[in-house]
Amino acid sequence: MASLELIKKLEETIENVPDFPIPGIQFKDICPIFLQPKLYEEVIADLADFSRGKIDAVCGIESRGYLFGIAIAVALDVPFVLIRKAGKLPPPFVGEKYDLEYGSAEIEMKTGHLKPGQRILIHDDLLATGGTTEAAAKLVAKQGAIPAQFSFLIDLEALKGKERLQKFDAEVYSILQY
Ligand code: PRP
Ligand code: MG
Repeated sequence: MASLELIKKLEETIENVPDFPIPGIQFKDICPIFLQPKLYEEVIADLADFSRGKIDAVCGIESRGYLFGIAIAVALDVPFVLIRKAGKLPPPFVGEKYDLEYGSAEIEMKTGHLKPGQRILIHDDLLATGGTTEAAAKLVAKQGAIPAQFSFLIDLEALKGKERLQKFDAEVYSILQY
């Protein structure tokens, strides 16, 4: 989907930071993308192309999933719904716990903002183990909506997140794979 030119520009722009936040992790810093508004626009256009005509709403995952997710929703003229880390949303909301490498985390979403039967794009900046995205898809399904698509800027393929998402029978797209 993405042109080789866009992929190359992003590869040159995203900074690889070794040993952050802990030794052994190669952190992908996407912040330099926002220094180049035209490049940001190209990314949104590409992600919007993937979902055009296929979804009724976009769910973005806090926090870096908001940076692109809301712009995708505006480009496609569909609603945007925030999936937040636990403890931020006033009730009513639904929550979903998931395991991290050490310990666990929880995400939440307002009830009533998705409609049963709606086809949903779940967007995040990065797919690693897939734990966060899997929990997001469960939140969507809990409300009777359909996790129809997943999109990411980056897929860290070695962590096999994509395999974890297979159970949802949804389309998966990433611009860059490492
Ligand atoms: C990062 C990234 C994804 C998630 C991917 O978010 O932005 O949301 O981890 O990991 P997983 O596939 O193993 O679940 P992080 O929790 O670091 O927070 P942030 O987006 O608020 O920076
Ligand atoms: Mg995140």
